[in-house]
Amino acid sequence: MTVQTQTLRTIAGIINSVETIEGAGFLVRRPFPKSSFSEFDPFLLLDELGPVNLKPGQAKGAPDHPHRGFETVSYILDGRLEHKDSEGHAGLLNPGDVQWMTAGAGVIHSEMPESEFIRTGGKLHGIQLWVNLPQQDKMMAPRYQEIPSAQIPVAQTENGAVTVRVIAGAALGATAVIETRTPIVYLHFTLQPGATIVQPVPKEYNAFAYVLDGSGLFGAEQEPGEDGQMVIFAQDGNEVTIANSAEAQHPLDLLLIAGVPLNEPVVRYGPFVMNTEAEIIQAIDDYRNGRMGHIHA
Ligand code: CO
Repeated sequence: MTVQTQTLRTIAGIINSVETIEGAGFLVRRPFPKSSFSEFDPFLLLDELGPVNLKPGQAKGAPDHPHRGFETVSYILDGRLEHKDSEGHAGLLNPGDVQWMTAGAGVIHSEMPESEFIRTGGKLHGIQLWVNLPQQDKMMAPRYQEIPSAQIPVAQTENGAVTVRVIAGAALGATAVIETRTPIVYLHFTLQPGATIVQPVPKEYNAFAYVLDGSGLFGAEQEPGEDGQMVIFAQDGNEVTIANSAEAQHPLDLLLIAGVPLNEPVVRYGPFVMNTEAEIIQAIDDYRNGRMGHIHA
């Protein structure tokens, strides 16, 4: 019998988000990419949109734009987003829904608040993660996995102090319904005051937490991290631990995201992420000449 030793990872660093304006003018918080921290292999970008209370007519989105060579993962917490693309695909994302889009060889799409939501206004909150594709998958046919909230597996500890929504990977006995091209963990945890999690994350995965709300204590050394911060775990163990202090006034809401690094060259130009400069030039040319398609109204 082999006994595997469980070791808790320590913290490698804390990254503050930069506030930036995207698309037609919505505010996002972005821990990466930024000049000092361009990617966290295999992840290319993390954006937190809102939370923001929008007045009627105020909601803005991202009109037609292309993607090639990676995946975009949209997770809606509040509000409603509409999606339309060059493959003739359209969908509506409601709170709790996840859209895992594998852009592969290329799609042109728009991501806009739903028209009725624009009219009424309301709370908007969402997360977008970009997951890089390995060289062999960069030119694959585009693929969508649209999972309504009710189909996202949810698990709880016996005392109810920890809840997890399993978007990718597995936690507390629940396994995700979404398939990923390379091994990815994407977990949305809520910890009540005094709760602690110990989540297995194999050593070869790059792992981080992003705090959505509240503040917590991270890693073997219980490093503090709060709302809007990205907490990077060192690759020095096969478990991560996160706690919400017993004195906390609020639940701790966070994403735990991890993936096996691709260790391939990354050449990125806006919405195109490839392995070489020549492939980027090709992507721009394909886009400009309509070879990624068009959106039909
Ligand atoms: Co997009």
